[in-house]
Amino acid sequence: MRSCWVIYNGSLTSDKFLDQAVLVAEAAERAGIQATMKKNYEVLIDLSAPPKDRPDFVVFLDKDILLASYLKQNGIPVFNDPDVIETCDNKAKQYIKLAKAGIPMPKTIIAPKVYPNFTIQNSGYYEKVLEQFGLPLIMKEGHGSFGMKVYLIETEEDFYAKVDELRGIDYVFQQFIASSRGRDIRVNIVGGEIVAAMYRSSETDFRANITNGGVASVIELSEEQKSIALQAAEAVGAEFAGVDLLFGGNGQPLVCEVNAAAHIRNIYNVTGINVADKMIEYIVGKLS
Ligand SMILES: Nc1ncnc2c1ncn2[C@@H]1O[C@H](COP(=O)(O)OP(=O)(O)OP(=O)(O)O)[C@@H](O)[C@H]1O
Ligand SMILES: [Mg+2]
Repeated sequence: MRSCWVIYNGSLTSDKFLDQAVLVAEAAERAGIQATMKKNYEVLIDLSAPPKDRPDFVVFLDKDILLASYLKQNGIPVFNDPDVIETCDNKAKQYIKLAKAGIPMPKTIIAPKVYPNFTIQNSGYYEKVLEQFGLPLIMKEGHGSFGMKVYLIETEEDFYAKVDELRGIDYVFQQFIASSRGRDIRVNIVGGEIVAAMYRSSETDFRANITNGGVASVIELSEEQKSIALQAAEAVGAEFAGVDLLFGGNGQPLVCEVNAAAHIRNIYNVTGINVADKMIEYIVGKLS
């Protein structure tokens, strides 16, 4: 019998992460694969020895990239690939790849590295950024989920306070797509195929994330939306991807971000499609 590990983060207290692992483990079991859920710290990254009781493959739902790399280095197929998890884990890094592939996205400037105890406030740099975007603009930390590290900056005062606060942190400046305020589309992709999509909208926040009060519904994607979502997943090399699309001014889809370990509970509830079954089916196909 085939076996797999489903790895999730053991330090986060929200039930969402366990729930996501359960969905994947249940799908594996349905496919006749013996699935073990593991918290990331339950696998010892002992560089002097290979992992114990190695499985045939790992579904990696965490961002513990070092653990993912260790497993891959020991010859275990890891999904998504650790390099992809690393790219997607940093929004700035993934925007570089998306831009290289010519994917339509909001104008983005990656903030320069500023050490925490220093400042470049007197250099004129931030004035140039303001000139490029005007206000409001978006500032987005490299590492962030559920919209928690995405800021809509409406005044110069808030702008300078935020650049000061974010010293030492990777982040980007981004054009605010006003036509998409409180609305986006989540597209789940498995192995180069779209398996589910939902429209998310919020009455109370510029962010459409369900965790922030967004409400989800079924959506029929246009050919252009499908094509751009697929291109975005491919540009970062993601076999499993949750691509967020914004509505550009002329209705053109713009890629907001690609998630490597997209949560699949909400889309299951909304569409009735269990993305986990597709993920397992894809892995089995790839490994046989
Ligand atoms: N440039 C933008 N213009 C308008 N709205 C935006 C823009 N960037 C992000 N948003 C809104 O904010 C939400 C959160 O942004 P984003 O998806 O980049 O980060 P995140 O949700 O924190 O990441 P994750 O999906 O990994 O949890 C988006 O779903 C979208 O509704
Ligand atoms: Mg998002």
